[in-house]
Amino acid sequence: MDNRAIGVFDSGLGGLTAAEELSGLLPDERIIYLSDSYNFPYGEKTREQIIEMSRRDLRFLLEHEVKAVFVACGTATSNALEVLKEESPVPVFGVVESAVCEAVGLTENKKIGLLATTASVKAGTYKRLIREKSMEIEVTAKACPKFATMVEDGVFDKEDERVIRAVAEYLPPLKQAGVDTVILGCTHYPLLEEVISEYMGEGIRFISAGAAAARELCRYLRENNLTSENRSSKAEYYTTGSFENFAATALLMLRRDISPYLKGIEPFDKDGNL
Ligand code: DGL
Repeated sequence: MDNRAIGVFDSGLGGLTAAEELSGLLPDERIIYLSDSYNFPYGEKTREQIIEMSRRDLRFLLEHEVKAVFVACGTATSNALEVLKEESPVPVFGVVESAVCEAVGLTENKKIGLLATTASVKAGTYKRLIREKSMEIEVTAKACPKFATMVEDGVFDKEDERVIRAVAEYLPPLKQAGVDTVILGCTHYPLLEEVISEYMGEGIRFISAGAAAARELCRYLRENNLTSENRSSKAEYYTTGSFENFAATALLMLRRDISPYLKGIEPFDKDGNL
């Protein structure tokens, strides 16, 4: 048993999809969620910038004495996971490997589609890990820079014209390739799953990177006897961006008001200080 909190971070609200999955599996865990919204979107930054920002996120969570850090961001995982693992005294979990394992296990026609941010597709981590598991699998990767920004702004209704247009812009290569499994490689994308799924048609399987990783983290905590028994635990949320935007979009996403547990904090300076 370990009653310390689990630290979760993302560049924005997308990581809440992963944090919610984790809370559903382990309701007694206390979660400290950091959204580096000031620096959103990570997906349009360079690898060096993503490493630097992720380091500061890690430091913030470590100051809160967490027992593990969950990088609920495909972009930070693809670009910075190894650095974070080296620098962290507690275990660090990313969202790429578990999604890859699930996708490789699920595909029947050996054609996997990947939807992710520009920086994740550029890093090539998803593709490399799929290839390491099977050289026979064909991967069609598509960067979708508008998706995360739309979700962050609360635009993810399946009837919304902007959503429909963006899906029609990004999805054709995956449809043409005939993929039977799609990795939603950015933690913002599960909010768009319904409209993506309608576009792709029947019979396609979707894997949310954040949810797959939450399942893996849950297994790890159970197997290592590190789960919490904090019956009355509440999550804490921190954002380096706008309090109002985070609270409003979180309300749309989660259908509950998290503002009593949300704190707006100053963006981190170069040394990671508040
Ligand atoms: N949620 C982040 C991810 O999983 C991406 C959003 C961003 O571009 O910052 O990749």
